[in-house]
Amino acid sequence: MSATFVPSHSLPTRNRRVLLARRPLGIPEPDDFAFDEAPLPTVDDRQFLVRNIYLSVDPAQRGWACDGTNYAPPVPIGSVMRALAVGMIIESRHDDFPTGSFVYGWLGWQDYAAIGPAQVLTHFTTPCVPLSAYAGVLGINGMTAYLALNDLGRPAPGETVLVSTAAGAVGSLVGQLAHAVGCKTIGLTSDDLKVARCLARHGYDVAINYKSAPIADLLNQRVPDGVDVFFDNVGGPILDAALRCMRTSGRVIQCGTASISSWSPPPSGIRNEREVLMRRLVWSGFVIFDHLQRFEAVIGILAGKINDGSLVYDEDISVGIEYAGVAIRSLYAGENSGKKLIFIG
Ligand SMILES: NC(=O)c1ccc[n+]([C@@H]2O[C@H](COP(=O)([O-])OP(=O)(O)OC[C@H]3O[C@@H](n4cnc5c(N)ncnc54)[C@H](OP(=O)(O)O)[C@@H]3O)[C@@H](O)[C@H]2O)c1
Repeated sequence: MSATFVPSHSLPTRNRRVLLARRPLGIPEPDDFAFDEAPLPTVDDRQFLVRNIYLSVDPAQRGWACDGTNYAPPVPIGSVMRALAVGMIIESRHDDFPTGSFVYGWLGWQDYAAIGPAQVLTHFTTPCVPLSAYAGVLGINGMTAYLALNDLGRPAPGETVLVSTAAGAVGSLVGQLAHAVGCKTIGLTSDDLKVARCLARHGYDVAINYKSAPIADLLNQRVPDGVDVFFDNVGGPILDAALRCMRTSGRVIQCGTASISSWSPPPSGIRNEREVLMRRLVWSGFVIFDHLQRFEAVIGILAGKINDGSLVYDEDISVGIEYAGVAIRSLYAGENSGKKLIFIG
């Protein structure tokens, strides 16, 4: 696919929208959403109308749909489901955002969005990689992999880096980035096909199917010398077991908590403060939206790696906005093979 490839699409005359119909109990199910059609949104002064092309599906949407404690307020019931997306500006009342240019940002699960600059994470005129990549490897997934690994993990050559959700959008990039530093990379994923992909494509020296045996046994057998950096996207029993494998002065990056099915009430696991103390661990939380001002620089770095062939990425693209109802459930079932997107052109 050429870097300037933009899928052709016919423009609907109404705005198909995916609304949050009710608060999900745990992982969002299709009945938590409702589909409707509305007139095209009107464009105010200093706004622009975006025709969405690729809708992003992110694990974080579960948290945005629920009303538990989070870093962002919950999506109001009855409003368009909060989502990142990539689209083209088709009408503009803002000189800095001309028609025909592209944005990645807070566009929602819908055909069209009338937005202003505050909703834009990335604005570009000519894609330097396929357009879909701006919602994944050059979107929050790639930014998170790069910034959380380097800022909080601080991997050094010869160190061992353990990654959960290793075959996913974030994890598949962390493996490659850590490997390029000269680290030994260990990936955790849920099936043997994903294990093979981690080894063949995502820079992992060792990949482990965490469902194949008790996780503590697997880590003891496959990572006997311990871990310096744990890039954790799941929490729960995998985190509990990994803390017991950390080397002295190890760094734990808490990037996600995908294995926790509900935060209401908050689950209490085994106590692990002793592991943090004895091993002198640094355990840091990361939220990508604290780093928006660094996107442009990191996009430049990752786009360079993609174009020189040193970074690969996988995408799992479903077609049609109707897919949105099952999209988050599918992600939490581990059915995706790479960055999950919905093409609605
Ligand atoms: N903190 C931030 O700013 C930030 C930004 C972006 C992403 N994230 C986090 O990064 C993680 C990965 O996100 P992504 O977009 O790259 O998604 P992804 O890895 O492409 O897809 C989610 C994956 O989570 C895994 N999973 C689901 N339920 C699980 C469970 N019970 N136990 C263990 N693994 C489970 C599945 O992989 P397996 O089949 O391998 O189990 C699934 O494929 C998520 O936790 C997300 O919230 C955080």
